[in-house]
Parts: sequence; structure tokens; C-alpha cells
Amino acid sequence: MKFITVKTYDELSFKGASMIAAQVIQKPNCVLGLATGSSPVGIYQNLVKWNREGILDFSLVKSVNLDEYIGLDGSHPQSYRYFMQDNLFDHINILPENTHVPSGCAEDVAKEGSEYDNLIESLGGTDIQLLGIGLDGHIGFNEPADHFVGPTHLVDLHPSTIEANARFFNSADEVPKQAVTMGMYSIMRARKILIIANGEKKKDILLRACYGPITPEVPASILQLHPDVTVIFSEE
Ligand code: GLP
Repeated sequence: MKFITVKTYDELSFKGASMIAAQVIQKPNCVLGLATGSSPVGIYQNLVKWNREGILDFSLVKSVNLDEYIGLDGSHPQSYRYFMQDNLFDHINILPENTHVPSGCAEDVAKEGSEYDNLIESLGGTDIQLLGIGLDGHIGFNEPADHFVGPTHLVDLHPSTIEANARFFNSADEVPKQAVTMGMYSIMRARKILIIANGEKKKDILLRACYGPITPEVPASILQLHPDVTVIFSEE
């Protein structure tokens, strides 16, 4: 693991975006694994800027997102599809058909999950996977559990995750109680992983994930087994 500590969120965003930009420049038809939450917003702002300035071309890029809330379709402002359109896809020259977010409205989530894993496989796997980290150590929506889950799957959100994500909704009651998330199989198969964490409140869980025991109780700790992980932590 490479651990980079920076002072400010702007530095985190610049360095994180630079890593993704390097991937796009080196392999214009790469597959980007993308994440939601507040942490990646600054990275996406840089990518939009560099695309507008003609530095980055997304015309051949494909993307796969980590997760989606159950019951929210892409027109819901708190859905992760909406987030991705609003923060990135609508502002860069990526083709709509090349962007993939798991559906939160599938009738059969298990079937949708295995189709999603097959899709990632058929794209040749992810070249770089961007991850945030939840306060309970979740990545995507892989919550602490007694075992790691491989496939894309349905998950019950932990009360602490619902509370943490309530800031995006009018109240905690409105936060969906379930989500569909890429599992550890597709996350760990990414050729490179970039995990970002912003601020003191994430420090403890990040250190436990990076240097503590590898356990499904801290889902991000599985990343210690991946050969190419970069962590960017901002102290701000
Ligand atoms: C959500 C997402 C995660 C993200 C986490 C942290 O739960 N499913 O992918 O890492 O939020 O979000 P934030 O960056 O806002 O702290």
C-alpha cells in the first residue's frame, strides 16, 4: 500500500484526479471503477475541468459504479446514478451507454448482481477502482459482517451508515434501508485501487483498515491483500 497524506481536500482531489487522468491518458479505452459520497466530488470537478480544457478525452472510456440504493431510480436526486450524472457524466464526453451503475429497482437483485459482475468481466475488469471509506469501514456498501461477500449483492445498511448518509436526505427516515453493491470479487480484481479519505473523523477507521487485522468486521481491511493500492488521506 502507498499511503499519501496531504493537508487539504483540494490536494487530495488534485492528486486523486491526476491518478485517474494518468490511467485515461495511458489507456484511452480503460474501465474506470467509480464511487459516490462526498469525498470524490473534488476529483470529479478536476476531471470535468481537464476534459473541458481538452487535456482528457473520455470518448472511449467505460465506467462501472460501485453501488446504488434499493428503490431509487436514476431520476431520484439522491440516487447514485443521478449523483454520477450530476457530478461527472453530464459534463464530460463519456458516452452514456458506456456508463454503468447497478440498478436499484431490479425485481431480482441476485440476478441483476450476477449480470453486473458478468458485465464487468466482459469489459475486461476494472483498470482503476476509486473508493471512499465509510465510518464503519465499508467500501461500496459492503458493510461489516462475519464474512466477506464476493458477488454484487443486496445489503442491509447499518444504522450508522443510514445516519451518516442522512445528510443527503431530508431525514434519516428517507434513507433507503438497503442497497445493491459490488462485492469484494469485482473490487479486488481491479488492477489498481485508489482509496480516498478526507478529515480527522476518517483517520481511525482508515488506519484500522490499512494496518489492523484483515477482517470482514472492517471490510476495507481486505485491501491489504491487493498488490496495487494507493491511499490518499487529507488531514483537513
Ligand atoms: C457511501 C458510499 C460509499 C462511500 C461512503 C463514504 O456509503 N456507498 O461508497 O465511500 O458513502 O462517503 P463520504 O465520502 O461522503 O464520507
